[in-house]
Amino acid sequence: MNILIKNGHIIDPSQGIDRVGDILIEDGKIKEVHIQGKEQRAKPPPTPPSPSRGEGKGEGESLLSESRIIDAFGLIVIPGLIDMHVHLREPGFEYKETIKTGTMAAVKGGFTTVCCMPNTFPVNDNASVTELIIRKAAQEGLCTVFPIGAITKGQKGEELAEIGTMRKEGCIAFSDDGQPVMNSLIMRRALEYSKAFNVPVISHCEDLTLSEGGVMNEGLLSVTLGLSGIPAEAEMIMVYRDISLAELTGGRLHIAHVSTQGSVKLIRDAKKRGINVTAETCPHYFNLTQDAIKDFNTNAKVSPPLRTERDIEAIKEGLRDGTIDIIATDHAPHHKDEKQREFDMAPFGISGLETALSLSLKLVQKGILTINQLIEKMTLNPAKILRIDKGTLKVGSDADIVILDINKEYEVESERFASKGKNTPFEGWVLEGMPILTIYRGRAYER
Ligand code: DOR
Repeated sequence: MNILIKNGHIIDPSQGIDRVGDILIEDGKIKEVHIQGKEQRAKPPPTPPSPSRGEGKGEGESLLSESRIIDAFGLIVIPGLIDMHVHLREPGFEYKETIKTGTMAAVKGGFTTVCCMPNTFPVNDNASVTELIIRKAAQEGLCTVFPIGAITKGQKGEELAEIGTMRKEGCIAFSDDGQPVMNSLIMRRALEYSKAFNVPVISHCEDLTLSEGGVMNEGLLSVTLGLSGIPAEAEMIMVYRDISLAELTGGRLHIAHVSTQGSVKLIRDAKKRGINVTAETCPHYFNLTQDAIKDFNTNAKVSPPLRTERDIEAIKEGLRDGTIDIIATDHAPHHKDEKQREFDMAPFGISGLETALSLSLKLVQKGILTINQLIEKMTLNPAKILRIDKGTLKVGSDADIVILDINKEYEVESERFASKGKNTPFEGWVLEGMPILTIYRGRAYER
């Protein structure tokens, strides 16, 4: 289906575009981009396709059947977002999420590319699981899914997984996320492989000997609540180790879900020294402190845990000065019954795909990032780290586009999530700015 998006404020950091213009989509690709007052191509403005009724309407999808011309006046038009850290739970934990429901949540949240972590059952530690995920995603997925393979067999941290064959099958990165790789020699080898195969190793930084038994941030509050704490050092020690190993090997290190001030400092310093390291944080780490669990709210129980005001400030500064390259969701859906257990027993994780963009826009509203910088951290930067041809509105690329209304206010209601995971600590929050239309390869999904 052909679509013409007219008069939108186009922001595409991959081409340095920040102006009003039109985009013509044909056969799922971006055919033309016409910037007002500055023609990108030596061509006349795109001719609107004749309005006709949409065909092939699928589940979860509302095709713009009445018209194929979208007037985006007053709205922002950006490349489809990339989330390089999600848990789709399939195979094995379909009661928490499936590739279908997870990708429905993705497009609702403005994401058109997601990378799924390997902590499924069986673990994605061999090419047959990778193949299964890719096949399922092609059949049922509503957006592009790139699998992330495990670093070690069964994510047990003992023996390297089949990195080479998984890479060939389509894994885009390697990680034992959910678990750290405690053995430094194995992590060293993984980073050597990352260099050889030219893929990032994504590190879940947690020293298990320090965090063991912990369920929240360690400090006065954990003592007051009588809960076991996880010190910030459990993260920082591993960030330091992995930076050292990246320096030793020249491998490509990406630090997942940065939650502490100390980690931000270590990464900033490593980047200054020219070490091959990139980093991500998630919306909950700059919007919430540990106070969110005061009432034993298990929906705010996450790994690494929510920290302090000081950590939030450091993370914002890290985002602002470029130490933290990207914002990912760490979308970790869990079943209600699991989260309704005692705090100690509930699983770690937050369902993040459907609130991430609005929560991240707070950084723009508070003047910490420009909207350009924010979009860069959710499109261009992950595309660069993953070396994929996504997150751009360049002519000829897939028509993965989001139309964003930065003034639209709404209340977070988890019951309305497309994700099976209703586990959000942002329930009832009134957020400003939301993706109102996501176009994936030319197909439009209305929020
Ligand atoms: O909170 C988390 N949940 N952190 C992780 O690293 C893993 C994730 C999960 O798989 O539930």
